[in-house]
Amino acid sequence: MLKILKPTLLVICFCIASLCQIFAEDNVSDNETIVEIRQQTMQAIWQRLDRLSALIARPGDVIASSDGNSIVIGNKETQSTETYALIHGREAIQDASEISNFLKQVKDFWPDNTSAAHIKHTSAEKLVWLIPDAFKRYYTDAVIASENLELSLSSEDDEKIRRSVCMLALSCGRCHAAFRKVRYSNLRKEGRGWTGSYESCWKYKNEITLDSTSIRK
Ligand code: HEC
Repeated sequence: MLKILKPTLLVICFCIASLCQIFAEDNVSDNETIVEIRQQTMQAIWQRLDRLSALIARPGDVIASSDGNSIVIGNKETQSTETYALIHGREAIQDASEISNFLKQVKDFWPDNTSAAHIKHTSAEKLVWLIPDAFKRYYTDAVIASENLELSLSSEDDEKIRRSVCMLALSCGRCHAAFRKVRYSNLRKEGRGWTGSYESCWKYKNEITLDSTSIRK
């Protein structure tokens, strides 16, 4: 009896062990996909913010149009939303609303097992999981800032629009400064929008330093 039981038990154990392994591998590859999706979505967000930064460009700044030409901003302090549509082939408000949607789509793409300890190619800092409430607060700041930008773009009030573009850019930069590692390999392609440090936004940065909730207003 024992003669049969022993090998049978061994086979069962072996099956369970390999099943466990398959599940474990599945989890890792799921989490890799999660990291890739959140990185690609962030890239798509940046592409749009980069276009929107034309709205806060200063005289002499060079911006790229949708057909790849460089355009130097003239004396007028900012571009109007109409020129934006002409240069980029799309409405500014569409970019703003897509940023808002993208941010909401990857809001929960930060599960426990997706830190650098589990997934090599993530640039998310361990802090995301050590102080999750702060991460969530910054995240909500960005979502609200993107909604505010949509609102101010429909108001056509230039000063309001400038402030909202800056508040959004600063919400990206503030989170990245705390929660995202800058990798050497990323340095070359790192745009200003990743850090939120547009010169024309400095005055709003002071506003946030004095009152951190002003980023949501
Ligand atoms: C609450 C925090 C937070 C906010 C807000 C935020 N990001 Fe990120 N972002 C991150 C983290 C964390 C990573 C690293 C993700 C990873 O590598 O897994 C990242 C990565 C990126 C990347 C690099 C993606 C890659 O290919 O590695 C870009 C570009 C980016 N963000 C742009 C933006 C822009 C633009 C905004 C604002 C509209 C923004 N992010 C808002 C946390 C944030």
